[in-house]
Amino acid sequence: MERSVNVTVVYYSSTGTIHRLATEIGETAEKRGAEVRLVRAAELAPEAVVQSRPAWAAHLKDTEDVPIASVDDVLWADAVVFGTPTRFGNVSAQLKQFIDTLGPAWFSGLLADKVYSAFTSGGSLHGGMETTLVSIYNMVCHFGGIIVPPGGDLNPYGTSHVLGADNLPVGDIALQAAQVQAERVVRIARALKEV
Ligand SMILES: Cc1cc2nc3c(=O)[nH]c(=O)nc-3n(C[C@H](O)[C@H](O)[C@H](O)COP(=O)(O)O)c2cc1C
Repeated sequence: MERSVNVTVVYYSSTGTIHRLATEIGETAEKRGAEVRLVRAAELAPEAVVQSRPAWAAHLKDTEDVPIASVDDVLWADAVVFGTPTRFGNVSAQLKQFIDTLGPAWFSGLLADKVYSAFTSGGSLHGGMETTLVSIYNMVCHFGGIIVPPGGDLNPYGTSHVLGADNLPVGDIALQAAQVQAERVVRIARALKEV
């Protein structure tokens, strides 16, 4: 029997792109036998700003039942997968704020030895998706975590979807990348648990 593995997918999404990828990663991890928590970073933008963009307001309403991420969701996990849209080539403030709440857990050494992986999306092809992912992995080094990127030649740093000028929704290529990433995260986390 395969050893059980706990996977937490923590994401922030304004308009649903990252939420779609987060769902795919969570479902794939479940298919690989993991226990999964899918949780979202709390919205920090002022209500008026959210409401000024209908797609943002609609997505927030659609996902109000997704639990807000807590420190316990990270402590519980053997593997944590972070998802964020690219914001000026960097992590969204919402996800970063959640990660900052992990300070006491970090200080107590409780974030170490877990598997971490990350995924993102951006408006343009060279708009800083890799720098966003590396920014997350920088933080993982501080945790003493084990970075598990997908590798390969498609999205080696982590699943990355480009919306482009046509605002393309997540398609098969990004979904396949998400599946590959989730499978690898579960496989490595399981192997590490057996050490
Ligand atoms: C304030 C802001 C900054 C952004 N910065 C970038 C960027 O640096 N590079 C990029 O490719 N896209 C950028 N975008 C586009 C977002 O990354 C894109 O809308 C997001 O990936 C969609 O994900 P979501 O639907 O999950 O919110 C930015 C969007 C906003 C609102």
